[in-house]
Amino acid sequence: MKVKEILGEIADKHRAEFEELYYLLEHLNPQSAEILFFYAHKIQIRSYGREVYLRGLIEFSNVCNRNCSYCGIRRSNKEVERYRLTEEEILACCDEGYQLGYRTFVLQSGEDSYYDDSRLVSLIHGIKESYPEVAVTLSIGERSYESYKHLFQAGADRYLLRHETASETLYQQLHPGMSFQKRRQCLQYLKEIGYQIGAGFMVGLPGQENEDLVKDLIYLQELQPQMVGIGPFLPHPKTPLGGFLSGTVEKTLVLIALTRLLLPESLIPATTALGTLDPRGREKALRAGANVVMPNLSPTEIRGKYELYPNKICTGDEAAECRLCIEHRIEDSGFQVNMGRGDHLEWRR
Ligand code: SAM
Ligand code: FES
Repeated sequence: MKVKEILGEIADKHRAEFEELYYLLEHLNPQSAEILFFYAHKIQIRSYGREVYLRGLIEFSNVCNRNCSYCGIRRSNKEVERYRLTEEEILACCDEGYQLGYRTFVLQSGEDSYYDDSRLVSLIHGIKESYPEVAVTLSIGERSYESYKHLFQAGADRYLLRHETASETLYQQLHPGMSFQKRRQCLQYLKEIGYQIGAGFMVGLPGQENEDLVKDLIYLQELQPQMVGIGPFLPHPKTPLGGFLSGTVEKTLVLIALTRLLLPESLIPATTALGTLDPRGREKALRAGANVVMPNLSPTEIRGKYELYPNKICTGDEAAECRLCIEHRIEDSGFQVNMGRGDHLEWRR
């Protein structure tokens, strides 16, 4: 009974206390999770209707100066064949994406200092000159305030920087040489500068408890990001966490749905990691409150090299095939594809 009451209240007020969320994570069962998904779905429809937004993802470099313990392209993994795309190659991906109807390009990479501000500014200008109406999303890690500002002034619209985990202890264990406070500071800077920001976390990290996941939700509630990426942790054999179990589909869906209740207008991707864990994972996410999908636009020759975790889906498919495949999946789940920029509602008012 108590679970239903708490769910009803959060769905109504879009706010929750630590203890309530903790109680839910400890006591939800398959039946009460259905009630949660029902509320999440209702709120999603109220905010964005049946629209699911498509973003074209370009993984332009797998070179990374960081050594996150879970990540397949971490600096210490010497078995990765590293690549960097040139500005021309990236623009060619955008061109193909534009022809396929994409109006948001997500530029993602490891933390690669080769792409300094001047290279990135030139790239952003190149994209905006050819396609003034598209949104450019960056997902290139931690940088200085000045750098974020330069890139924003050059025309970047959005920035994805998952907080990864809101547990300070876990964060410090997983990110050698990095700082929990610094990551949060970066998110604050991005918000202040005026980007639509994306935070997010992994579910099922080794050592992660329900208490830690509640901290993630409370942090999102405070930060109020426009986008939230939530995916299961998937062990990569060439990392220190290779021997651990992956996160589960069920738990990831519960966290997506709770995020939809707390941040009713957020843009939440049905992540590739979820689609990798379960062939119907992305469809399940859409029915649990997600409303974004990010098909890959990177050249097929390099896709396999951006291996954050093993067996990543869609590494062999041409952009056009991905576009069609995902459209069918979205429609089969009872939603419709929206190829527009898909800004957060606040940006449309
Ligand atoms: N370097 C940028 C950054 O740090 O934000 C963007 C690229 S990073 C590879 C993108 C995301 O992949 C990370 O935020 C992390 O959550 C996710 N990721 C990396 N390794 C993963 C794994 N083994 N399982 C699940 N997700 C993973
Ligand atoms: Fe790429 Fe399905 S989304 S093949």
